[in-house]
Amino acid sequence: MSLDVVILAAGQGTRMKSSLAKVLHPLGGQPLVLHSVQMATAVSQRPPVLVVGHGAERVEEAVGDAARYVVQAEQLGTGHAVMQVRDRLAGHSQQVIVMYADMPLLRAETLTTLQRMQQASRGPIALLTHLTDTPRGFGRILRDERGHVQAIVEEAQATPEQLAIREVNDGTYCFDAAWLWDHLDAIPLSPKGEYYITDLVGIAVAEGKAVSALIVDDDDEVLGINTRVHLAEAEAVLRQRVNEALMLSGVTILDPDTTYIHPSVAVGPDTTILPNTCLWGATTIGERCVLGPNTVIRDSAIGSGCVVSCSVVESAVMEDDVDIGPYAHLRKGAHLESGVHMGNFGEVKNSRLRRGVKMGHFSYIGDADIGEDSNIGAGTITCNYDGVRKNKTTVGKNVFIGSDTMLVAPLTLGDGARTGAGSVVTHDVPPDTLVYGVPARARAAQPEDKKANDV
Ligand code: UD1
Ligand code: CA
Repeated sequence: MSLDVVILAAGQGTRMKSSLAKVLHPLGGQPLVLHSVQMATAVSQRPPVLVVGHGAERVEEAVGDAARYVVQAEQLGTGHAVMQVRDRLAGHSQQVIVMYADMPLLRAETLTTLQRMQQASRGPIALLTHLTDTPRGFGRILRDERGHVQAIVEEAQATPEQLAIREVNDGTYCFDAAWLWDHLDAIPLSPKGEYYITDLVGIAVAEGKAVSALIVDDDDEVLGINTRVHLAEAEAVLRQRVNEALMLSGVTILDPDTTYIHPSVAVGPDTTILPNTCLWGATTIGERCVLGPNTVIRDSAIGSGCVVSCSVVESAVMEDDVDIGPYAHLRKGAHLESGVHMGNFGEVKNSRLRRGVKMGHFSYIGDADIGEDSNIGAGTITCNYDGVRKNKTTVGKNVFIGSDTMLVAPLTLGDGARTGAGSVVTHDVPPDTLVYGVPARARAAQPEDKKANDV
């Protein structure tokens, strides 16, 4: 059956106490609303229709082409929100799922089951419910003595007996489309001056139609976000789901409670993740790596057999068998080729360290290209910024840079060049040439020069 999905996301979310619209608060590294959009995309070929209002521009920016948009200029309730969509969707599909953008942990399979339930029933509505002792604001499901769903009553309007009902409305509905578009106008104005989509249940029952309920038994799935306390609960559930899936796929996680991995991250088998490690954003990790403890890797590609110890890696690439840390920092555009070793307190930005480069101790390499098998002595700095421009340093193959060398860019060191400890290099160095001193001067390398250098 053809299906459209409508996601309501126009509310401010006042209980978040935020200038940011609720649906833009991040969960697992992406705005809440994107979780709903992804669910919708998994169950329907047609892009979902997002009803936007508060923060509409920013919501559209965050979701982009993945959805169609309808603006609800004034938020007069969930029923009113669906009314805004009618002109857009009426006559286009046989079923319509309506869901709220503040329930991000629902599984796509649950939506599919709900859709099948509506299709199999003779009634116009199937909805999700769950049983709970902590209803925290959810509408209550009223059933008759035979157990048939009769109505939904909002908490604010419920009698004390109704408040004691443990079955609550999760706010996800699958409608027979034609029936929905026909009956929206029958929704009465609530005492609060809003139109509630939930009133359609009572309206269907009054027509003698059946309303079916799919009772969700995993409470985590139906965690609705109204406050930042709920947001933290959802984050914990999502984290557990991600960590469990990774462990079952062959990743060792020493302490899942202190391991923070976004759902967007891929990790290869036999990789081990040590405590206090964050893997975020568009990150891929190969096989047999050891990451952590106390490590953050964001938007980076890490090959197989790598070690990242107590380090921060941002928008960087590490090929296979690279080890860094403890206390290394790779920044945007750092690219470490296979077999590179980078030890304590190093920083690399917008630079390529080619195969086999060694950089053992506290150095800064920025805007540089370091040739194969070169050695960067302790305390080396590329002086890449002259106060106006960023300048490039190019270092050839098998270059030996002595400790505490300042490479004042723009600068090129030829293959096999060497610098003495404490040199300040201001001019290009030809191949196989030793320079030393301040400012560094060249002379052809002699075998005894080895002593002038310091690893
Ligand atoms: C709603 C349900 C309640 C259910 C609960 C589950 C109604 C009347 N009540 O209550 O039965 O138990 O969800 O989470 O539907 N929105 C709009 N436009 C509006 C109003 C709301 O787009 O005019 C959007 C909000 O952005 C939000 C969603 O609809 O994403 C739900 O609104 P919210 O105010 O959170 O409803 P609840 O009070 O939680
Ligand atoms: Ca809500």
